Amino acid sequence: MSDPNRRPAVAEVHEGGITVRWSDKSPMHLPNFWLRDNCRCAKCRHPGNGQKLYEIVDLPADLAAIEAMVAPDGAVKVLWSDGHRSEYMPGWLKEHDLIASARAARQAKPELWGKGLENDLPVGDWPQMLQDPTKELAWLERYAALGFGLLRNVPTQPGMVAEVGDRLGFVRVTNYGRLFDVISEPNPNNLANTSLGLGVHSDNPYRHPSPGVQLLHCLVSEAPGGDTLLVDGFHAAEILRKENPGAFALLSTVPMTFRFADDKAELEAKQTLITADMDGVVTAVHFNNRSADWLDAPIDLASRWYNAYRIFAQILKRPELELVFRLGPGDLVVMQNDRALHGRTAFDPNRGRRHLQGCYIDRDGMESRRRLLKRSAPNRTEAAA
Ligand SMILES: [Fe+2]
Ligand SMILES: [Zn+2]
Repeated sequence: MSDPNRRPAVAEVHEGGITVRWSDKSPMHLPNFWLRDNCRCAKCRHPGNGQKLYEIVDLPADLAAIEAMVAPDGAVKVLWSDGHRSEYMPGWLKEHDLIASARAARQAKPELWGKGLENDLPVGDWPQMLQDPTKELAWLERYAALGFGLLRNVPTQPGMVAEVGDRLGFVRVTNYGRLFDVISEPNPNNLANTSLGLGVHSDNPYRHPSPGVQLLHCLVSEAPGGDTLLVDGFHAAEILRKENPGAFALLSTVPMTFRFADDKAELEAKQTLITADMDGVVTAVHFNNRSADWLDAPIDLASRWYNAYRIFAQILKRPELELVFRLGPGDLVVMQNDRALHGRTAFDPNRGRRHLQGCYIDRDGMESRRRLLKRSAPNRTEAAA
């Protein structure tokens, strides 16, 4: 780990950019266009809202730093070939270091989980969270690390799930409406509305984009069975990568088509079962046996892809990955839809009622809520002190 008190010592111009040498001797290379595009001066960004005031093509193609120096306060000052002057503060430079170790340190580190989490479920009391932003933030942080969270004591009135959705983010209306009922029906348009068991899945991979977050609220659970199953799709993907890197590569590059059709809608989207970013970090898992349609891929890939698909599906069934718990009336589970894959065991509809309501919200709304609460958290501590 680098010295937290280190500061810029010298700056020098070279071909392609500048190099800042820090007090601990570590070098930081800053490419010309990258550095200039991060200028925060009032000519480059609106002082009120921070939005950019120029277009990238407004900068000369041969833009280059011609002078660089470190001011007594540690700020790095640059004079550019078009006469513009920029200044970069040490704190900003540290936070935006492009060196591999710094980039790795900035990556979100999901806490991978399995059956063991049954004894330590991420539970929050809804009425308390409404009263206390500290409790809400604590729950949201745990949710962010695990990709799901449970809320208890949510009033068992129909429609509450959408109210919770609008508090955590913004409800997304779909062809199922603002919310949907999961209840056993005689002629369902979806297997969810039968009493059959459902293997773990992400919801609606046939949408663009697929839902970011699903909320499921239990209103009645008298029927025996119908337990909730959750599997960490990121954990399963990491196991696949370790045990069979070739299968991981196929599932993260070759998409399959998902589809849903009834009299009112015909929805279709292509998704890779695993999405990984340029650093190989898994960012999404889409898996849904019911709406998997077909694979439109070159012939030579099809057999290999199906082999990989079977291997991944087997991993998702490993008992040590499967979290099983029962939702009672007033319980509400919030799931990052492209990570926490959910399912349920079969239930007996002749021996009692079972009624859940669900809705979808987008991921960004929930992430924004967490950042906003975090932003105001230190002020509250100061006010309390
Ligand atoms: Fe579902
Ligand atoms: Zn500027």
